[in-house]
Amino acid sequence: MFYRTQHFASALALCSTLGAVVSEAKIFQTPRDVHDATYDFIIVGGGTAGSVLANRLTEDPNTKVLVIEAGGSNEGVLASIVPFLGVSLPNTEVDWNFTATPQESMFNRTFHYARGHVLGGSSSINLLTWNRGSNDVWDNWANITEDQGWSWPSVEKYYLKTSRLVAPADHHNTSGQVIPAAHGNGPVQVSLAGFPSELDDRVINTSRQVGGKFRFNEDINAGDSVGFSYLQASIATDTRSSAATAYLKPVEKRSNLDIVLHTQATRLIQTGYRKDTPEFKAVEISNGPTSPCFLVHAKYEVILATGVVGTPQLLQLSGIGPKKALNALGIHSIVDLPDVGQRLADHPMLPNYFSVNSNGTFDIVLRDQSVFGALLEQWNTSGTGLFVNSPSNTLGFLRLPPDSAILKNRTDPSSGPLSAHTEILFVDGYAQFGDIPQPPTGNFLTLLTAVVSPASKGSIFIASADPFEKPLINPAIYSDEFDLLAMVQVMKDSQEFVQSPAWTGFVSATFGALNGVTTDEAMMTYARNFTVTVNHPVGTASMSPKDAKWGVVDPDLCVKGTLGLRVVDASVFPQIPECHPQSLVYTLAERAADLIKAAH
Ligand SMILES: Cc1cc2nc3c(=O)[nH]c(=O)nc-3n(C[C@H](O)[C@H](O)[C@H](O)COP(=O)(O)OP(=O)(O)OC[C@H]3O[C@@H](n4cnc5c(N)ncnc54)[C@H](O)[C@@H]3O)c2cc1C
Ligand SMILES: *[C@@H]1O[C@H](CO)[C@@H](O)[C@H](O)[C@H]1NC(C)=O
Ligand SMILES: *[C@@H]1O[C@H](CO)[C@@H](O)[C@H](O)[C@H]1NC(C)=O
Ligand SMILES: *[C@@H]1O[C@H](CO)[C@@H](O)[C@H](O)[C@H]1NC(C)=O
Ligand SMILES: *[C@@H]1O[C@H](CO)[C@@H](O)[C@H](O)[C@H]1NC(C)=O
Ligand SMILES: *[C@@H]1O[C@H](CO)[C@@H](O)[C@H](O)[C@H]1NC(C)=O
Ligand SMILES: *[C@@H]1O[C@H](CO)[C@@H](O)[C@H](O)[C@H]1NC(C)=O
Ligand SMILES: *[C@@H]1O[C@H](CO)[C@@H](O)[C@H](O)[C@H]1NC(C)=O
Ligand SMILES: *[C@@H]1O[C@H](CO)[C@@H](O)[C@H](O)[C@H]1NC(C)=O
Ligand SMILES: *[C@@H]1O[C@H](CO)[C@@H](O)[C@H](O)[C@H]1NC(C)=O
Repeated sequence: MFYRTQHFASALALCSTLGAVVSEAKIFQTPRDVHDATYDFIIVGGGTAGSVLANRLTEDPNTKVLVIEAGGSNEGVLASIVPFLGVSLPNTEVDWNFTATPQESMFNRTFHYARGHVLGGSSSINLLTWNRGSNDVWDNWANITEDQGWSWPSVEKYYLKTSRLVAPADHHNTSGQVIPAAHGNGPVQVSLAGFPSELDDRVINTSRQVGGKFRFNEDINAGDSVGFSYLQASIATDTRSSAATAYLKPVEKRSNLDIVLHTQATRLIQTGYRKDTPEFKAVEISNGPTSPCFLVHAKYEVILATGVVGTPQLLQLSGIGPKKALNALGIHSIVDLPDVGQRLADHPMLPNYFSVNSNGTFDIVLRDQSVFGALLEQWNTSGTGLFVNSPSNTLGFLRLPPDSAILKNRTDPSSGPLSAHTEILFVDGYAQFGDIPQPPTGNFLTLLTAVVSPASKGSIFIASADPFEKPLINPAIYSDEFDLLAMVQVMKDSQEFVQSPAWTGFVSATFGALNGVTTDEAMMTYARNFTVTVNHPVGTASMSPKDAKWGVVDPDLCVKGTLGLRVVDASVFPQIPECHPQSLVYTLAERAADLIKAAH
C-alpha cells in the first residue's frame, strides 16, 4: 500500500461516496466537477506542451480529452499580456514559487525558481525569447536516443507547425534582420522588437565591424545558432503569444475538450497489469492539502505534461522512480526507475551591470509611476511604445574556440559546431535579477551572461509523500567546473564587446560589485555570488534508447516499464539545448501528438 497522511486517508474515503456532478461548462473550476469521468486521454498539466496536445488530440471530434491544470486562467493577467511586464510575474499567483536548495558551488546561496502555475504554463510567464535550437541540437537528440525521428530533418515540419513570423509593432522594415523563409505557419506568433532601443545599432554594428567570435547571424533560427542577432520573441506584434493564447483559446469551444482548473494531480493510480507490466490509467486529483481527492480515468493514456518539476514529482509520488529512495519516504515502489528526477540541467545566468552616459535607458520607467502609467496607456490605446518589447532587443551566442583551454582534456559539452557555449543578452536598463535591487538613481546597461552548454547535472526529488509539499530542486550550478570557467570567459567577452568603437562614450564604468573585478579569481567569486537561473531547466525524465537502462522514457516518450503512460514536456529533453527552450517544447509536443495519434 501507499503511505498516506491522515487527511489523504479520509479524502479517499470521500472519493467513493461522492457522485459525479454534471456541468455544462467546458472549463471546470474544481476537481469535483470531473469526478469519476472517463476520457480517451487525460493530459496532466495545461502548460506549454499540454496545450499543444490538447489542441492536436481534439482535432478528431470523436476523441475526448481532459486537461488538468493546477493554476487558473491566463486571461486578464495583465503582466502575462503586456510583453514588457512579464518580468514581474515570478512570485505572484501564476508562479509555483519554488526555491533552489543551497548551492554548494555558490557559497550555499539559494535563489527563486519560477515555473508557470496557470494555463499556458511557463509560456504564460516566460521572457518570450524564441529560439528553435541549432540543427545540431536535434541531430544530437537523434544520436542519443538512437531514433532518427528526433533529427532535424524529421522534426522540421513540426517546428514549422508551431509558429509564424508576424510584423513588429512599429512595422519597421525587417529586411536583413530575419530570414522569413526559415519560419513556418503555426499558431504561435513571433516578431522582432517593435520599439527600438539605443543599444540595437551598437550591438549589430559591433558584430558586423568586429566579426569573428562576435559575428553577425541574420537569423539564429535558421540552422546555425551561433552569432549576434536581432532577438525574435513570442509576441503577437504587441501582445504575448503563449500556448494558452495560440493553442488553447482557439479550440476552447470544442465539445470533446474539457479543462479543469485549480486542480492538482496528486498521484497516478495503477489500474492493472498487462503481461506483468503495470498500467497507469487513472489520476488522483485534489485542490488542496485539506480538500477531498477524486479520480479520473483514461481509456487510452495518461499524458504527463507537468513540466520539469511537476513530472518527476508526480512520478515519484506514484511509486515510479528510484526504489530505495521512495521506500525511505514510505512510498511503495511500483517501477524502479533510478533516473526519475536525475539529469537536471539548467543555464546559469549572471547579471553584469554598467553605468552609462545616457538618459535613454528604461530605468526611469521603473522609478516613476507617471512614466510607467503613460507607457501602459500608450500600449493600451495604440499597441506601441516600450511595453511591446521583451526585455532585450538583441542577443549573441558565442562558441569557444576549439583550442580553448577550457575544452582541454574533456569532451565538448555542446551539441555540435552549430551550437554555442555561452550567451550575452543586452538590456537597456537595470535588469534586476536575484537579490541586487535597482539603485534609486542612475542609468544602466545590463549584460546578462549565460552558459548555454552547461556540464553540471542536478536533481529534483520529493521531500515527502505529501503531494502539496514542494520538492527539493537542486540544479547543482557550477558543480562541473567547465560551467564556471565558461562563465568567466563570457564575462570577459561581454566586456570586450562593449569596449568596441560603437560603444565609445556610452558605457562609463562597471557598476556595483563588478567594480574592480578584473582577475579570473575575482570573476569566479562574482559569478558564485550573483548567478541565478535563466529558468531553462530540462532533463528530469530523460529520453533514452528503447532498451537503455538509463533514462525514464523511450524515444516515443512512453515511461519505461509502464503501460498507458507518456511524458511530453521539457523533462524528456535528453540534453539541454544551447538556446532558450520554449520553441523546442512546442516542437516536441507537435511530434508527440502525431506519435500518440499513430499509436491509437
Ligand atoms: C520565468 C521564466 C522565463 C523563461 N524565459 C524563457 C524565454 O525567454 N524563452 C524560452 O524559450 N524559454 C523561457 N523559459 C522556459 C520555457 O518557458 C519552458 O522551458 C517551457 O515553457 C516549459 O514547458 P513545459 O510544457 O515543459 O512546462 P510548463 O509550461 O511549465 O507546464 C507545466 C504545467 O503543468 C502544471 N502542473 C504542474 N504540476 C501539476 C500537477 N501536479 N497537477 C496539475 N497541473 C500541474 C503547471 O501549473 C503548468 O501549467 C522561461 C521560463 C520561466 C519560468
Ligand atoms: C507565490 O507567492 C506570491 C507572493 O507570496 C503569492 O501571492 C502567490 O499566491 C504564490 N503562488 C502560489 C501558486 O501559491
Ligand atoms: C555549505 O553547506 C554544506 C552543508 O551544510 C557545508 O558542509 C559547507 O561547509 C557549506 N559551505 C559554505 C561555503 O558555507
Ligand atoms: C551524430 O552521429 C553521427 C554518427 O556518429 C555523427 O557523424 C554526427 O556528427 C553526430 N551528430 C551530432 C550533432 O552529434
Ligand atoms: C526593405 O528594405 C530592403 C533592403 O533595404 C528593400 O530592398 C525593401 O524594398 C524594403 N521593403 C520595403 C517594404 O520598404
Ligand atoms: C540627463 O538629464 C539630465 C537632466 O535633464 C541632464 O542634466 C543630463 O545632461 C542628461 N545626461 C545625458 C547623458 O544626457
Ligand atoms: C485599456 O483601456 C480600456 C478602455 O479604455 C480600459 O477599460 C482598460 O482598463 C485599459 N487597460 C489598461 C491596462 O490600462
Ligand atoms: C590536460 O592534461 C594534460 C596531460 O594530462 C595536462 O598536462 C594539462 O595540464 C591538462 N590541461 C588542463 C587544462 O587541465
Ligand atoms: C551603426 O551603423 C550605421 C550604418 O553604418 C550608422 O548609421 C550608425 O550611426 C551606427 N551606429 C552606431 C551606434 O554605431
Ligand atoms: C562576494 O560576496 C561576498 C559576501 O557578500 C563579498 O564580501 C565579496 O566582496 C563578493 N565578491 C565579489 C567579487 O562579488
